[in-house]
Amino acid sequence: MKLSIIGAGYVGLTTAACLAELGHDVFCAEADAGKLSDLQNGKVPFFEPHLEELVARNHTSGRLNFGRTEQAIDHGHAIFICVGTPPLENGEADLSAIEHVAREIAVRAQGYKLIIEKSTVPVKTGVELRRYMSRHNANHLEYDVVSNPEFLREGSAVEDFFHPDRIVVGVEEERAATQMREIYRPVLEQSFTCPVHAPCSRRKEPVFLVTDTNSAELIKHASNSFLAMKISFINIVADLCEAAGADVTKVAEGIGIDGRIGPAFLNPGIGFGGFCFPKDLQAFVRIAEKFGCDFALLREVERINQSRVGKFVETVKKELWVLGGKKIAVWGLAFKPDTDDIRFAPSLSIVRQLIAQGASVRAYDPQAMGKTKKEIPDLICCRDIYEASAGVEAIVLLTEWEEFRKADWARLSGLVERALIIDGRNALACETVTAHGFQYVGVGGITGAPELTPSISRP
Ligand code: UGA
Repeated sequence: MKLSIIGAGYVGLTTAACLAELGHDVFCAEADAGKLSDLQNGKVPFFEPHLEELVARNHTSGRLNFGRTEQAIDHGHAIFICVGTPPLENGEADLSAIEHVAREIAVRAQGYKLIIEKSTVPVKTGVELRRYMSRHNANHLEYDVVSNPEFLREGSAVEDFFHPDRIVVGVEEERAATQMREIYRPVLEQSFTCPVHAPCSRRKEPVFLVTDTNSAELIKHASNSFLAMKISFINIVADLCEAAGADVTKVAEGIGIDGRIGPAFLNPGIGFGGFCFPKDLQAFVRIAEKFGCDFALLREVERINQSRVGKFVETVKKELWVLGGKKIAVWGLAFKPDTDDIRFAPSLSIVRQLIAQGASVRAYDPQAMGKTKKEIPDLICCRDIYEASAGVEAIVLLTEWEEFRKADWARLSGLVERALIIDGRNALACETVTAHGFQYVGVGGITGAPELTPSISRP
């Protein structure tokens, strides 16, 4: 099918490349001239596993092309709107980019278009979009408006696209649902050649859920808010474990086994970040307010999350006493592993506070160094965890990159000034690091004393 994507951000570009990989003829529009020229030259402007190879392969084969919005409007029978909806000062989503695209479609498009909103938007945006289109419909365009929220996670977006739990489509007309089913047919039938796993063992057919547009829009905000709520919940349980002498990993395991609760999103730590949860929570509270519902529960989720950074810095201070003049290694800066995204990353707030209190911070992240250095010029950027850890009095882990779990602890114990690890994600095995002479301080009551003295004792 001829499909168009407007907006080549994380969601738009992933969607474009994956739809092209399924065999569709995709045109992706990007308004930023620099980004567009990068894409036209085969360069992906951010890091996302598998995305670069998918973009390159489909661009070369001619199934994925890039250009301007007008070209995209002319190209696609279906148009996915994937433009940004950043938060306004009051927490509401700024929908001006969506309105702008709607205007362009209304003045330009001919015949029939399936207009699909994929950007995260407040409930009733579909209704407003329809109203707007009918008011500005100069060319008597025939159209349907569909809400098709995305559930892609950064770091595993390509995998999530091909192996989703569900595909939600909010429609007002059955013909729109039929077309959406056709677009996603290979995913619904799991009949594609998997570009992520070979051989692929994840062939579970997703649920295709058809709703009205208001409900589909609410599903998106409610899903993200519920997941954020799980994280804040386990973070307070972690505090309780720490105070009462219990182990939060065991508690999370024990509650997660219950099928009604589930084990996912029960990892405590420095709090959630990224461009979705913090902004979507705020937006959802505002949406509820507008409709006369007090979602105080979510305000509390947000408040708990904001308190995590200060709490973690206090843990570091408890171990190091005075931060002034201390050398600290920070492992991980991105808001989660497998991405270079640092937007609303709690790690950055922690680094800023450590530096403000006089610590010298030596950091390493496999992907996010460049972006972070621009934000925090005082940060000492290192080539790897070993350079970052040389002569430090504490290693502080803030993002759970897989490569950190494979660290050479014997080598590290010879490099550090003091063998102390403060693990803000409970990512490391306490028994492994203590066996190499490190003191371990995790989140939620997980601590371990060194079993050996470090291999090199310093004067
Ligand atoms: C989230 C949702 O998971 C996606 O389904 C959704 O499509 C996306 O937002 C979006 O709205 O675009 P994402 O923000 O990419 O995806 O990443 P998550 O894996 O959800 O992690 C969010 C934050 O929660 C991260 O900072 C992560 O470290 C933190 N987290 C996650 C925890 O602290 N504990 C957990 O147990 C899980």
